[in-house]
Amino acid sequence: MTRELNPKTALVTGGSEGLGLELVRTLSDRGWDVVTDARNGDRLHANLTDLPARSRVRAMPGDVADAVHRGLLVDLVAELGGLDLLVLNASTLGPLPMRPLRDLTAVELGDTIRGTAGANAALMIELTDQLLRRDGVVVGISSDAAVEHYETWGPYGAAKAALDHLVQTFGAETGLAAYAVDPGDMRTRMQQDAFPDEDIADRPLPATVVPRLLALVAQRRPSGRYRASDIELPAREDVVA
Ligand SMILES: NC(=O)c1ccc[n+]([C@@H]2O[C@H](COP(=O)([O-])OP(=O)(O)OC[C@H]3O[C@@H](n4cnc5c(N)ncnc54)[C@H](OP(=O)(O)O)[C@@H]3O)[C@@H](O)[C@H]2O)c1
Repeated sequence: MTRELNPKTALVTGGSEGLGLELVRTLSDRGWDVVTDARNGDRLHANLTDLPARSRVRAMPGDVADAVHRGLLVDLVAELGGLDLLVLNASTLGPLPMRPLRDLTAVELGDTIRGTAGANAALMIELTDQLLRRDGVVVGISSDAAVEHYETWGPYGAAKAALDHLVQTFGAETGLAAYAVDPGDMRTRMQQDAFPDEDIADRPLPATVVPRLLALVAQRRPSGRYRASDIELPAREDVVA
């Protein structure tokens, strides 16, 4: 692990597995202070136990849709002196198995959009002062479903489209760098839940996406929507972020 004299601070929502966990590990390896959460506290702590003793990862179990939990996250970030990077990663597919719109209740539809877009956006807004203190970067994790229309992906796609919009509006209003990033398919629990009958071994691991995400953050490209596969890695990937 590299330890910086003035470590940067990141908050990654949904850091107990998949892309979020890989981001937490990589940022920690690079000497960042990292705050993360997930609803299942046992899994969150279990999957972070092998980090080096000197790592400064703060794992706070909770649901990003819970205002009290978000308040605790904001307080912790304030204690750390502000936020350099906010990654809005926590998400669900909505009710499983995924169903066509005509088979969903209004509550299921609203809960899915509120859980992914509303909750993450509320946290972003509540962290405005902490982001401004460090000229921080916001990354909303998106999906191709935010712009394409796949059968049974309606609530999830709508939630991701809303999050894209809210993140980029936040960037326009604050002047902070704000990105919506489509990571592409990854071999994770979410991918398996979406395709329960498929062998997903051919999907790339989240570890292939993280360097591209962090390259985007380090390069401070103009705010906007990006696909991870389009983000080029610098020649020496180890010098980014
Ligand atoms: N995997 C793909 O192929 C793919 C493709 C395109 C986009 N994405 C996006 O990439 C991101 C990561 O996906 P992934 O595949 O890594 O997902 P994943 O394996 O299902 O992990 C999701 C993480 O978010 C946490 N989480 C979910 N809801 C939460 C909430 N309300 N509050 C706090 N934590 C919450 C989960 O823990 P708990 O369940 O314990 O809360 C878990 O740590 C998501 O935004 C997803 O939409 C994924």
